[in-house]
Amino acid sequence: MSRILSYFAKRYIAGEKQEDAINTAKELNERGIKTTIDNLGEDVKDAKDAARGVEEYMSLVEAIRKDRVDANVSFKLTHLGLDISPLMAEENAETIIKKAVELKNFVWFDMEGSKHTENTLSIFSKLHAKYPETGIAIQSYLYRSAADVTKLIKENAAVRLVKGAYKESPDIAFPEKKDVDGNFSALMKRLLLSGAYTAIATHDEKLVNEAKNIASENKIPRDHFEFQMLLGIKRTLQSRLVEEGYKVRVYVPYGTRWLPYTMRRMTERKENVWFVLKNIFD
Ligand code: FDA
Repeated sequence: MSRILSYFAKRYIAGEKQEDAINTAKELNERGIKTTIDNLGEDVKDAKDAARGVEEYMSLVEAIRKDRVDANVSFKLTHLGLDISPLMAEENAETIIKKAVELKNFVWFDMEGSKHTENTLSIFSKLHAKYPETGIAIQSYLYRSAADVTKLIKENAAVRLVKGAYKESPDIAFPEKKDVDGNFSALMKRLLLSGAYTAIATHDEKLVNEAKNIASENKIPRDHFEFQMLLGIKRTLQSRLVEEGYKVRVYVPYGTRWLPYTMRRMTERKENVWFVLKNIFD
């Protein structure tokens, strides 16, 4: 099993060290692709681990600057102590954002499982009011996201629209893929037309084409939005979009705590699940 997991991890993760992420980002930059680098870590229960996360991000934004890499950063608030206390996560996030802003960079807040949605949004809104160089992921599978998008548009925040990667109850999230996709399409249209900076974070070619059509029909300038994809997924589509003159950013995760991220990538595609089952029972 561990052999199969590390096979998948290699596809989706830059490596265990910061240097691996920087080198991967440089390679992507050479193909005309921008990056957002994530130090893997989540559900931290000890303040010392949260502090280590802050240190890692501080040195990451410095390395990005020093090596002149076209990269911003993404973090999860539970990596910075949200499960210990929202105040700790906010203070830790602010420390990283201050440093990033000082070094002329930008910070994306990832969105985690629904237990953290409210706190993540509220910490984001407070910090975004002080530091406009921040953006947040919104998940189209949640019923609440339409209202959250309305609020974020008013706050003039940059939004990364994703479908959502966590297991959620039908009480709060669309259980059917077609509805998640339909809500993605509706929220994407609202965001693009609102003038909010929109990151269309999907590998779904139908939605990518829809975004291109909305942008061209409504003359939305290409520097008002970008496509974002995950490392290891749809490389040809990434390159094609760059050739067509669109901004493309790839999410580059690295670190030793790669298991939860790898499991999410593995299970969101049924071919991956079949591959694992076949190899276990072979
Ligand atoms: P969909 O699942 O419909 O896939 C479309 C096609 O892409 C598939 O048919 C397949 O070809 C390919 N594909 C998708 N996943 C694949 C995989 N794992 N391996 C191989 N091929 C695959 N989620 C979240 O909850 N919070 C967050 O903060 C983020 N952040 C984030 C950043 C960025 C840049 C991206 C692109 C995505 C996220 N996500 C996320 C993950 C997101 O919610 C979602 O789980 C994945 O993007 C998969 O959904 P798609 O939109 O690609 O569509």
